[in-house]
Amino acid sequence: MVNIAEAIRQLKKEKNAVILGHYYQRGEVQDVADYVGDSLALAQWAARTQADIIVMCGVHFMGETAKVLCPQKKVLVPDMAAGCSLADSCPADEFARFVAAHPGHTVVSYVNTTAAVKALTDVVVTSTNARQIVESFPPEEKIIFGPDRNLGSYINAVTGRHMLLWDGACHVHERFSTEKIAGLKRQHPDALVLAHPECKEAVLQMADVVGSTAALLKYAVRHPERSYIVATEAGILHEMRRQCPHTEFIPAPPSDGTCACNECSYMRLNTLEKVYDCLLNETPEVTVDADVAAKAVRPIQRMLEISARLGL
Ligand code: 13P
Ligand code: SF4
Repeated sequence: MVNIAEAIRQLKKEKNAVILGHYYQRGEVQDVADYVGDSLALAQWAARTQADIIVMCGVHFMGETAKVLCPQKKVLVPDMAAGCSLADSCPADEFARFVAAHPGHTVVSYVNTTAAVKALTDVVVTSTNARQIVESFPPEEKIIFGPDRNLGSYINAVTGRHMLLWDGACHVHERFSTEKIAGLKRQHPDALVLAHPECKEAVLQMADVVGSTAALLKYAVRHPERSYIVATEAGILHEMRRQCPHTEFIPAPPSDGTCACNECSYMRLNTLEKVYDCLLNETPEVTVDADVAAKAVRPIQRMLEISARLGL
């Protein structure tokens, strides 16, 4: 009897498929992925893969980004219901009205958006490159930033810009609270607080390090002698513990205290069984309307070009 992880590896080889996984995936799904990374890395790997099939173990907008970059490839997402509350907080028709109401602005959109929103965008960013891409514009540039108000406020604060912000948020990162983190700090006074910029401002003010999932991981790998309270989706702890097996990582819980760590229910929809089924049946497949894709590819390519130039 072949185990499911081995069966996935065999199918992947037979079909010339690549499995890309986000740090927020279940640990066992990360373990079968060829590459595990943050949103920027997933887009970069999708853009350069020679595989015929991309299995995007992440959420739908990540699959769309891969499909827009590689229209000739088959892009599969193990569970089509893996959406994103942040992307949902920015419907394309409402965002189009917002953009039209503010002429003369450059539109910068976080990658956590639908392809239809990217089609209204001048340049896409991720949490790894948002600061540098915003700073690549002259200080007087008028900018609309969407959809994450927390990331947008954070970038405004660190760059001194005054970008107009769309009022969206991620339900997972909004659930972290200063009270719970302060409680953990009392129990672990030497632990550093690592926080993702999608967290609320008050949480970010308590953080020792603010950064994308990749940046938080990199910090911990450089300083494995410290211990960490981690305020981002708890899936990242899998890779943190793999790379720093002797370091203590404490997940920050959601404010309602319903569980010890904060998980994205959308990311958790992808299971090993669904990865196997989707590779076997080559479904569910991500599709993007051709006109939307033709417009959305430009701001994504622009992000990849700027990131390459900056060595990100
Ligand atoms: P990064 O992968 O850029 O850290 O973003 C996290 C996230 O919310 C993905 O859904
Ligand atoms: Fe979207 Fe938040 Fe889940 Fe990331 S963690 S996929 S931003 S809902």
